[in-house]
Amino acid sequence: MSTNRTARLAARPHGMVTRDLFTFADEAVPEPGEGEFLVKLEMYSIDPAMRGWINEGRSYVPPVGIGEVMRSIAGGIVVKSNHPGFAEGDAVTGILGVQTYAVSDGLGVSKVDLSAASMDDWLGGLGMPGLTAYFGLLEVCKPKEGDIVVVSAASGAVGSIVGQIAKLKGCRAVGIAGGPEKCSYLTDELGFDAAVDYKQDGLFKALRAACPDGIDVYFENVGGEIGDTVLAQMNPFGRIAVCGLISAYNATQAPDGPKNFRSILVNRLNVRGFIVFDFLSQYPEGIKQLGEWNKAGKLKLRQDVREGGVDAYPETLNLLFTGGNNGKLVLKA
Ligand SMILES: NC(=O)c1ccc[n+]([C@@H]2O[C@H](COP(=O)([O-])OP(=O)(O)OC[C@H]3O[C@@H](n4cnc5c(N)ncnc54)[C@H](OP(=O)(O)O)[C@@H]3O)[C@@H](O)[C@H]2O)c1
Repeated sequence: MSTNRTARLAARPHGMVTRDLFTFADEAVPEPGEGEFLVKLEMYSIDPAMRGWINEGRSYVPPVGIGEVMRSIAGGIVVKSNHPGFAEGDAVTGILGVQTYAVSDGLGVSKVDLSAASMDDWLGGLGMPGLTAYFGLLEVCKPKEGDIVVVSAASGAVGSIVGQIAKLKGCRAVGIAGGPEKCSYLTDELGFDAAVDYKQDGLFKALRAACPDGIDVYFENVGGEIGDTVLAQMNPFGRIAVCGLISAYNATQAPDGPKNFRSILVNRLNVRGFIVFDFLSQYPEGIKQLGEWNKAGKLKLRQDVREGGVDAYPETLNLLFTGGNNGKLVLKA
């Protein structure tokens, strides 16, 4: 067996992630103890949340500690096992870190069937991002047939699934994304009813043109000016799922609050933040349904698979914040 290449957090960020925040090293491959197994990792899920995990301070999970292997959801193959539930050769996904080998006791690790879908699908539309879209839309927003559903970061891992599920539920799906190519992808390939390019001037008017009857459901992935503009066009008794606020993840000072906060009052909006693992007990239902839709050709998944291994981690992560990714971003080990 070779060595374990690791990316360990060396310092806290200020603004965008830089290489010097991490140390890269070849370490001894760890030995699994009793009740543990060793996974050889194949790919890392690169997620916007990673930027939050390296900040100091209180969040929904503790920050990655200085000197610790960078946290990541990843997929790989079990190569040694002292665990009754996992055997050599099992394909698994879970929080396994940005490294080439990981030891696990099985907590939060799931077996995946590579004959049913590829590892990148299990990290994307059939994994955490797909479940985020599924539960965030269906459980938090409770869309009704005919509702007008808007989603931001619409061409990405979560947003692309939100719009497609909205269509499956008989809603009008409108995506907000950056640039003409991402917008045509939404309407021409994923079947969204309309797409709005927020990089063009006149976002308010363009959104109004795409949603002349207002907005019933907003799946918030971005925040900032985009979130504020949607807020101003919500219909009475609309629902907003606050899933992410990516526009502010690299901010070096607190962003301005929404100017259109009043809309929550006058329109009696239901606004709820959520984290996907709030729905942990319902994951089997979500995985089954997403898999069935995908198999039936009703749900298209797109992964953006990058090369470069552990050492390419910082630059790959930053693609999420420049819009450089097209679909679910994963990095090959
Ligand atoms: N609550 C949860 O449990 C949970 C779970 C997973 C993800 N999330 C959140 O869901 C959101 C989407 O995540 P994802 O994994 O699906 O990523 P993604 O959409 O595949 O990639 C991120 C996209 O965000 C857009 N973006 C980046 N900076 C922006 C800015 N300043 N203004 C507008 N758009 C910007 C870019 O698309 P454009 O090119 O269109 O700008 C970029 O491609 C994130 O906010 C993430 O934190 C939440």
